[in-house]
Amino acid sequence: MAPRFSRPYEAVTLDGELKVFAGSSNRALAEQIAMRLDQPLGSVTLKQFPDGEARVQINENVRGTDVFVIQSTSAPVDENLMQLLIMIDALRRASAGRITAVIPYFGYARQEKKSTGREPITAKLVANLLEAAGANRVMTLDLHAPAVQGFFDIPVDHLQASPLLADALHRVVSDKLVVVSPDAGGVARAHDFSQRLEDASLAVVFKDRMAPDEIQTLPVVGDVADRTAVLVDDLISTGGTLAEGARSLLDRGANAVYACVIHGVFANGALPMLARSGLEKVFVTDSIPLYNGADEGKIARVETAQLFAEAVRRVHNDESITAMFE
Ligand code: R5P
Repeated sequence: MAPRFSRPYEAVTLDGELKVFAGSSNRALAEQIAMRLDQPLGSVTLKQFPDGEARVQINENVRGTDVFVIQSTSAPVDENLMQLLIMIDALRRASAGRITAVIPYFGYARQEKKSTGREPITAKLVANLLEAAGANRVMTLDLHAPAVQGFFDIPVDHLQASPLLADALHRVVSDKLVVVSPDAGGVARAHDFSQRLEDASLAVVFKDRMAPDEIQTLPVVGDVADRTAVLVDDLISTGGTLAEGARSLLDRGANAVYACVIHGVFANGALPMLARSGLEKVFVTDSIPLYNGADEGKIARVETAQLFAEAVRRVHNDESITAMFE
């Protein structure tokens, strides 16, 4: 089995003035991105006023600069989102030349439509807020629904982690694979992933979500017996989708079950649930940091710093992002 994915990204070289600032959600990733761009992180004070309001101070000149602000809107979601908006506002008022919000994990993307009456479309509201704050561009990784790009009237660079995940999986598993979508909505993503692997077939587990934390799996469509299965999903929240999916696949004769997931949201109890599940290993990117003291157990982290650094370099130099994924 040989995976089909892009060649390793070229070494990063820069021309012109660029600055990278980090919010507090994923500083480790921001530091790695800046390091690969051969840049120090921009100096910014991120604190709170005594009443809990966010306090942001940009500590260096950004006039006319091409600025990239790295911030995942992961938990605490509203705090991180507000901090990002305030950083953008501060940069705009300091006359930054261009501001790109680099949002490795874009929270609220699952609220992208009304599924019943009198619900908000919060993903659209967040897009409006980013534009109102002063973002000129957005860069993000595997949105829950790619259509969220259309909620913006500014350019959105939508990066894909599937080449990195396919590569990481290929280093560990060499069996004949069946790529499995854990629900009907993820079939296109699973199909795309299967195309990156040689000779991989496709299957779907149908899932019914009775409540946000309660899942029932329905029939598996496709042949999984005597194959190693790989569940492919955009995110892990409670872990229920993957744990139930793995159970269904093992019940139907799969030899082993792995998972490749873009964003590790890991709501309370998710890691122990995954540890108890029939999954062998869960490959997940570092778009969201694991909380302090978390037992990584079956989690294998896949680094995205080089992907983001290369994308930042290309945006700064007006080069193609599409070409990174061809
Ligand atoms: C749902 O549409 C998503 O793609 C994920 O399958 C879901 O959000 C995972 O959630 P959980 O880990 O709570 O089952």
